[in-house]
Amino acid sequence: MFFKKQELLIPAQILNPDQKEHLELAAQILKKGGLVAFPTETVYGLGADAFKAESVAKIFEVKKRPSFDPLIVHISKKEDLKRLWKEIPALAEKLIEKFWPGPLTIVAEKNESVPDIVTAGLSTVGVRMPASLAALNLISQAASPIAAPSANLYGYTSPTTAQAVLDDLGSSIDAVLDAGPTKIGIESTVIKLEGNEIVLLRPGGVSVEELKKIAPVKLPSISEAGGAYESPGQTESHYAPWTPLLLLPGSFKESLPGLEKWSISLSKQGKLWPRIGLLSLGVQKNMPLLEVVEVLSPSESLYEAAANLFQAIRKLDKMNLDLILAEPVSTKGIGLGIMDRLKKASKKEHSLKAYFENIQDKNE
Ligand code: TXA
Ligand code: MG
Repeated sequence: MFFKKQELLIPAQILNPDQKEHLELAAQILKKGGLVAFPTETVYGLGADAFKAESVAKIFEVKKRPSFDPLIVHISKKEDLKRLWKEIPALAEKLIEKFWPGPLTIVAEKNESVPDIVTAGLSTVGVRMPASLAALNLISQAASPIAAPSANLYGYTSPTTAQAVLDDLGSSIDAVLDAGPTKIGIESTVIKLEGNEIVLLRPGGVSVEELKKIAPVKLPSISEAGGAYESPGQTESHYAPWTPLLLLPGSFKESLPGLEKWSISLSKQGKLWPRIGLLSLGVQKNMPLLEVVEVLSPSESLYEAAANLFQAIRKLDKMNLDLILAEPVSTKGIGLGIMDRLKKASKKEHSLKAYFENIQDKNE
């Protein structure tokens, strides 16, 4: 029985979405109220039948996700929207035409039949049609829209491989469909509509520049709460590895003179230099004071960097480092989504100065 899963610590079944029987089994699990993780083009999602409130409740439980954070509902055909939205806004029609299937979630007034647990009690529901074949096939086989957040523990780095899902949720879900690493690597762009305007709730796979070709886009102003997006789940800390991550103000090269001073000062006091890993967009010519450099894209392509981002953070997080430093990237195109993830993964209380002052104090 699926509901005994967590107590029995049975590992999730790893299923191949290219095999008909595996896909059918995954759909059966959903129909019986279980949880199936599946690949989308962005990240792996943790799915439950959107119309089974008890199954959706299990998503919140296994992810340890607070109940105020609404879920995205995934569909495989436009007709499914009738079951979810009161009506299709005119601007949504245009956006759907252009971006679905794809990494764009549109928030609109929900039908009463959509369980409140899916939307965290909001009167709106976010919907998207994912572009991965495995996801589309699973949704049509299950014959119901699927509610799915990213398949990671709440607040931790999102999963872009089946292994990352298993690392976080292995024995608390029923199955994972494994289709290899996801293509885009960061989550969908979430928007709501205000008349003929698009309001950006979370930057992601579809860039603001692309959206602007369809309608004007409202971004959060920097003065309002430090430029926070107004979506309920967009809390300041998110996507964060266990190892403290610090987003540098500029390139590593620019921070190097400061780091060298700290290195001299710590060694004078006979203190150990911390094990530091660098998350870098491109190749670094030299890497003094660093244990390891994780390059997101040797050709410095932001698309490649997005695809590798979460995997790279998880890799560094497994290396027993004391600190992860991340270089900022351009906020053009998908870069806005990358920077949003890096800012939220970065410890707010840390600057290089605060980090090293703390080491000095600790060892004294
Ligand atoms: O790419 C993606 O979007 C992935 C894949 C699995 O589809 N899903 C994903 O879900 O990233 P999740 O739960 O990690 O993030 C969904 C976010 C919520 O935290 C919330 O900020 C926003 O979408 N959201 C969902 N429904 C909303 C609503 N009704 N109003 C405002 N924001 C909403
Ligand atoms: Mg998430």
